[in-house]
Amino acid sequence: MWSLIILTILSFFAYLLTDELIPKLKSLFINAGLFGIDLCKVSKEKIPEAIGVISGCVFLITILLFIPIGFGNSLMDRGNFPHNEFAELLAALLSICCMLLLGFADDVLNLKWRYKLLLPTIASLPLLVVYYVNFNSTTFIVPIPLRQFFGISVNIGLLYYIYMGMLAVFCTNAINILAGINGLEVGQSVIIAMSIIFFDFIELSGDQYKAHNFSLHIMIPYLATTLALLKHNWYPSKVFVGDTFCYVSGMTFAVVGILSHFSKTVLLFFLPQIINFLYSVPQLFRIVPCPRHRLPKYSAETDLLQASRTVISKKDMSFLTKIVLQALTLLKLVDKIEDNDSIILNNLTLINLVLIKLGPMSEIQLTKTLLIFQFFCTCIAFLIRYPMASYFYDV
Ligand code: UD1
Ligand code: MG
Repeated sequence: MWSLIILTILSFFAYLLTDELIPKLKSLFINAGLFGIDLCKVSKEKIPEAIGVISGCVFLITILLFIPIGFGNSLMDRGNFPHNEFAELLAALLSICCMLLLGFADDVLNLKWRYKLLLPTIASLPLLVVYYVNFNSTTFIVPIPLRQFFGISVNIGLLYYIYMGMLAVFCTNAINILAGINGLEVGQSVIIAMSIIFFDFIELSGDQYKAHNFSLHIMIPYLATTLALLKHNWYPSKVFVGDTFCYVSGMTFAVVGILSHFSKTVLLFFLPQIINFLYSVPQLFRIVPCPRHRLPKYSAETDLLQASRTVISKKDMSFLTKIVLQALTLLKLVDKIEDNDSIILNNLTLINLVLIKLGPMSEIQLTKTLLIFQFFCTCIAFLIRYPMASYFYDV
């Protein structure tokens, strides 16, 4: 308990430091050519990009500084040093650190999509090795209704490691593609982090105490530094967080999900990101054309955002594109305008879907709506995890 209190105090100072550093270092980023233009504003001023590297570094430094404190007692008694727990923490730090580096490289070099998928897989390898050495549990408990077919548990062996590697790829990219309006990347991460912390505190009295204690030691400094970043990224954004932040966040959530054995619960907290990913699949796999930016279209006259669109030429349309369009139309999930030669379709993101269902709105209103939805999904996640879990598992 003491270690959590000390970590919370350290994290409070990490918040203050991040809050102080961001405005001070902003100009360095602009001078280095790391800036973007806010596409939903009239003003075309340069906004520093990749500021997630500042919060990410302070987050890692906080955990590094905490190591001698957290493991202090064990250092006195070297014979009983908890090597396994230490290896877990180091693997977690290494994976997050790799993503910080790769995310920053992406912000500077604008990497291709294939690297965005490959790099998190490689960065998750240390985690998987530690998982193999410390737990190597690759067994899924089968939900009660399916037990007559599969038995109580199923050991999926190597597939479990593939699942964990894919979790890291999903978490890192899912936040990055639910983005483009002020405060959304950071806001959703703050809600997910708070949900995980709340879940950890509930479970702290259970038999998985150690795993949730580990998760809290990662999530508390993460939340503190991210809150400081949110202050500067909130509407109207004075800084952009860049892919660095999205990658660090995604990997942090994947790390706690994997090493604290609650990856399925983490996925429940990612419900809006899963919806956004599934809805985006036709564009991500180029079944429907995907422009460089899919963020909403800003109208200077009304100061409102409306769904941005993509154009499909009818003569280039494949059979698969036709099927996908028909399915989306049937489900009333698209807003399309058709003429003789082309179909104009909204870009397939959750942000645009909200705009076509609720009508044009201001940027701040849109961010708040999406964050309320994120919070609502957290409530659903807890409902599934607790009251409803007893229908599926022996709890
Ligand atoms: C992802 C999305 C892209 C979206 C972009 C916005 C996919 C496949 N890619 O691309 O559709 O447009 O994120 O972040 O879904 N920006 C703003 N306001 C904001 C945040 C960002 O205008 O609040 C703009 C700025 O010009 C900024 C740029 O987006 O420079 C950053 O985009 P970047 O993170 O490089 O895009 P991707 O992650 O590649
Ligand atoms: Mg991005």
